[in-house]
Amino acid sequence: MIRLAILAPPALLLFLLLAMDSRPSPPSPRELLSRMTIEEKVGQLVQEAPAQAAGRLSTEEKRRVREGRVGSFLNWQDPMGMAEAQRLARKESRLGIPLLFAFDILHGFRTIFPIPLALAATWNPPLVEEVAGLSAWEGRSAGIHWTFAPMLDVCRDPRWGRIAEGPGEDPFLASELASAWVRGFQGDDLASRDRLAACPKHFVAYGAGEGGRDYAAVDLSLGKLLEVYLPPFTAAVHAGAASVMTAFPSVNGLPVAANPFLLRTLLRQKLDFRGVVVSDWNAVGELLVHGVAADAEDAARLAMKAGVDVDMASGLFAAKLPGLVRAGKVPEALLDQAVERVLALKAKLGLWSSPAEPQVPPWVDPLPATSRGLALRAAREGIVLLRNQREILPLSPRVRSIAVIGPLADDRRNALGPWPGIGREEDVVTVLEGIRSRAPAATRVLFAPGCSADDPSTAGFAGAARLAESADIVVAVVGEQARMSGEAASRADLGLPGRQEELVRALVETGRPVVAILSSGRPLALPWIAEHVPAVLAAWFLGVESGNAVADILFGLSSPVGRLPVTIPRAVGQIPIYYGHTNTGRPPGSGRDVSGYIDLPETPLFPFGYGLAYTRFAYRDIQVAPAVIGHGQSVEASVLLANTGPRAGAETVQLYLRDPAASLTRPIAELKGFQRVFLEPGEERRVRFSLPSEALAFVGPDGELRKEAGDFELRIGPSAASGLSASFRLENQRLPTPSPRGTP
Ligand code: NOJ
Repeated sequence: MIRLAILAPPALLLFLLLAMDSRPSPPSPRELLSRMTIEEKVGQLVQEAPAQAAGRLSTEEKRRVREGRVGSFLNWQDPMGMAEAQRLARKESRLGIPLLFAFDILHGFRTIFPIPLALAATWNPPLVEEVAGLSAWEGRSAGIHWTFAPMLDVCRDPRWGRIAEGPGEDPFLASELASAWVRGFQGDDLASRDRLAACPKHFVAYGAGEGGRDYAAVDLSLGKLLEVYLPPFTAAVHAGAASVMTAFPSVNGLPVAANPFLLRTLLRQKLDFRGVVVSDWNAVGELLVHGVAADAEDAARLAMKAGVDVDMASGLFAAKLPGLVRAGKVPEALLDQAVERVLALKAKLGLWSSPAEPQVPPWVDPLPATSRGLALRAAREGIVLLRNQREILPLSPRVRSIAVIGPLADDRRNALGPWPGIGREEDVVTVLEGIRSRAPAATRVLFAPGCSADDPSTAGFAGAARLAESADIVVAVVGEQARMSGEAASRADLGLPGRQEELVRALVETGRPVVAILSSGRPLALPWIAEHVPAVLAAWFLGVESGNAVADILFGLSSPVGRLPVTIPRAVGQIPIYYGHTNTGRPPGSGRDVSGYIDLPETPLFPFGYGLAYTRFAYRDIQVAPAVIGHGQSVEASVLLANTGPRAGAETVQLYLRDPAASLTRPIAELKGFQRVFLEPGEERRVRFSLPSEALAFVGPDGELRKEAGDFELRIGPSAASGLSASFRLENQRLPTPSPRGTP
């Protein structure tokens, strides 16, 4: 209700009228089905993109809506056109079944938040839930019912451009975020007018494509599929996700849209998913290109039989399913099940009880302060401080002049990232603007772009260097353009595009202290910068509040809390690189012939979980009790954490597990818990975790979870690369519950 306070009065009236609209409840899906022709049934499974995303439907499109041959539209941005189409479906089609409107709301609809990878860097699921909640409110109030989000593809290959859209490399962190996204979008009641149906995507293992190329084939062991790529989807389904989207690639030889093992055995049976399965864009049509369907009819049959309910944009369900059903090549019962699921989703969304949608989106222009406030919080928390030599950050209030240099310093478009919804460039506060507005009044802020983000000219270097020489401190804002990540935007090189690294080198050569702000949709491999630039921030694409967030961190108005959700490599040649790898028989440090490179350390530039604060933390006295647990019991682990630095700050304390001897090789570390702890200078606190025996299970060769008795190691620390260790034992039996005095 608080949100209503910021609605414009006419829109508020419309909103309230619609909220009070009490029509008869929807017919039951079964009852409707019994009245539908085969064409009308298939129509519910057809999702179209309007020929004009920002316009009205053509006469031909309207005819299809009237005939009940379209069930949903995607990525349509004309509220009046959508309302008109809805009226046609409700009032002029034979059965009056409402349309569903879907839209990609990946990191905001109107208010653009940091990209999902940056939101993952917050390690703050409640914050992500708030972001999803606000996005749902904005989207729903513009007539959208269904978002194709969250994107939950675990990815260990930063060449893949879509790493920007996802939760990073780790299944545990991704699962925590997955539940938060779904709760935020859906709330408790999909019919409420500030919620959206979520669509976790892309099911499954899309992030494991060969060579980091988009859409590339995935070849994967069952163990990795179930332990690394499936968990966030499991979490999203358990959180009640209303739908799931299939991934484009082939997984172990069969494209997902034609893969009954993935869609029926795993998703429907193992995860007990009851919602709608939608294909990705033209994925049914691409079954021909993959080479598993001989013709269009074959493609529609394979997809339907594999478990696709809704065909996004290929048109093959519309063209071929009625004939396939009549010929008995697709059982009508299968069609009915899919249609029933779509009708059930429409009913849950309350589309029959209030079919007309508000035509004036009730968010005001400019963005409300509450929306900006949340965007600022998310942007600040997504920034990861990678390096801070001589503690040059936060900037001293005595700094008299700052040279802000770089092609992304005053750039609006790129700050919005690769999926900017209907966000507007004019809403963006650039880094230059943020620094200008946050700098002390007496501080001069100078600016030069230095070069462009991707062209070869160095003509601006000399001017930029002169500006740098005249300033107390240099802030270099460099990185990728938004179009370099996201869909079909894989890169073979993870350096700074164009001449930007040379620009940074020229700035460092001036001898002035340099702070590098790295904007990107992926981890960038920048070893020279990591070694020579005294302060480095990973700032991803932070959305509308980019500049204010960066400036708040620079001036110490906010302390950095972000942690890497993904390993940063030294070089492309190390990929895939991730913390949870297995040990091998010859790990580094075990002798002469070890698993590594002869020309590069095998360690990352920055490990998973890493991120600095403006203070220092010390870990001591790890305790684990009881020393032996049985099935169904938990081990309690704790550590003393002290703030030993000069400022207040927050540490993200991470718990990792290792099973050093099992019947299959296990990762050298698996994240099993994390907590953000805020401490004043000098303060010390015991940080506690409880790890149930279920967390010790792993996937056996049969695909089933197993728990094996034996010793386990726990590590509690600030990243995947350091911390304090202790061990405990799991016995293969139930043990008496230990007394409370046994717990640390
Ligand atoms: C293709 C993308 O893979 C998917 O993520 C998106 O939801 C659809 N297009 C619809 O825009």
